[in-house]
Amino acid sequence: MTILVTGGAGFIGSNFVLDWLSHAVTRDEPVVNLDALTYAGNLQNLASLQGDARHTFVKGDIGDRQLLDALLAQHRPRAVVHFAAESHVDRSIHGPGAFMKTNVEGTFTLLEAVRGHWSALDDVAKAAFRFHHVSTDEVYGSLAPDAPAFTETHTYEPNSPYSASKAASDHLVRAWHHTYGLPVVTTNCSNNYGPYHFPEKLIPLMIVNALAGKPLPIYGDGQQVRDWLYVSDHCSGIRAVLAGGRLGETYNIGGWNEKTNKEIVLTVCALLDELRPSAQGPYSRLITYVTDRPGHDRRYAIDARKIESELGWRPAETFETGIRKTVQWYLSNADWVANVQSGGYRDWLNTNYKTR
Ligand code: NAD
Ligand code: TYD
Repeated sequence: MTILVTGGAGFIGSNFVLDWLSHAVTRDEPVVNLDALTYAGNLQNLASLQGDARHTFVKGDIGDRQLLDALLAQHRPRAVVHFAAESHVDRSIHGPGAFMKTNVEGTFTLLEAVRGHWSALDDVAKAAFRFHHVSTDEVYGSLAPDAPAFTETHTYEPNSPYSASKAASDHLVRAWHHTYGLPVVTTNCSNNYGPYHFPEKLIPLMIVNALAGKPLPIYGDGQQVRDWLYVSDHCSGIRAVLAGGRLGETYNIGGWNEKTNKEIVLTVCALLDELRPSAQGPYSRLITYVTDRPGHDRRYAIDARKIESELGWRPAETFETGIRKTVQWYLSNADWVANVQSGGYRDWLNTNYKTR
């Protein structure tokens, strides 16, 4: 048996592949990893799998139907776990086209290829097959400060080009189940953090900027709330839903860790003060308030009771243990950080922060 993972060279996808191939229950099942290696994809994340016959990496686009058909015919996966996406809200504001192309059209092409493959399976293989769509809590929109956390039945109210494109992909996946019977499950997870997180996102950006003595840019008043989950807990949640989730259902994944952005930045600063003190004084001196993100969602929060009660899933990390591991990982992996800070990365910092 084999699974096909899309986007397995990105932040969560690479953590998932590494987790899958080391976890006692799944480690013997090979992974075919299809990734276009955009700016966010990085084979260095998978360096520990070099020469490992259980991992086949294929550089390619989920929008390439011919490639998808060939891969599905050759490897005959019993499941597809779909991570590949454009994932950064600020980039979606500066250039929404790539988000429509990959997240909407790409998911459509993938669904059609998978439907073709699945339709030709025998009845037993057909029933066992899974298409697992990895999505986000951002599709639900923004919560008022005192509103209950997102359940799976919350209305879809996406506010950014990113979340709108993910919402569209969720709807396609749902429709392919209802119309064609494709055996799908969808997970909507809160903000992840941990190793291999590209330093355009809040937590890794704050770590690498602080270490470089650069400003720590907080958008607006810094009182926006996100619900943070350590990436390996997202991976275990996906494994649980892939193994036991009910067909056509969606499951929210989150760790009950609501924090304001300001709290996050202060926590990162305090950990760096402890682990790598600066001669210039506390890292919080670098905090700078900058122009807010247009359409900035005020609060996300996940109600994770469905996955907890149906599948017995629980996060292994608290925010305190996860954020400490994360800061330590960035301190121990300066080479990885240096390698991802290419010319393209510097161009992005100019685009996003120069005019703020
Ligand atoms: P990421 O940007 O780090 O990685 C995305 C990966 O997809 C990259 O390796 C990239 O090369 C690849 N990719 C992009 N376009 C492609 C294409 N057309 N064909 C093939 N590969 C392509 O993203 P991430 O943070 O790892 O997120 C993975 C998935 O999880 C996304 O679907 C995202 O919406 C979802 N998600 C992310 C978070 C989060 O906090 N990061 C939370 C919930 C859900
Ligand atoms: P981000 O990591 O981009 O994730 P998302 O927008 O998908 O939640 O941002 C997390 C929060 O941090 C979000 O409210 C925007 C804020 N933020 C800043 O304040 N400064 C920054 O430089 C970045 C990248 C994000």
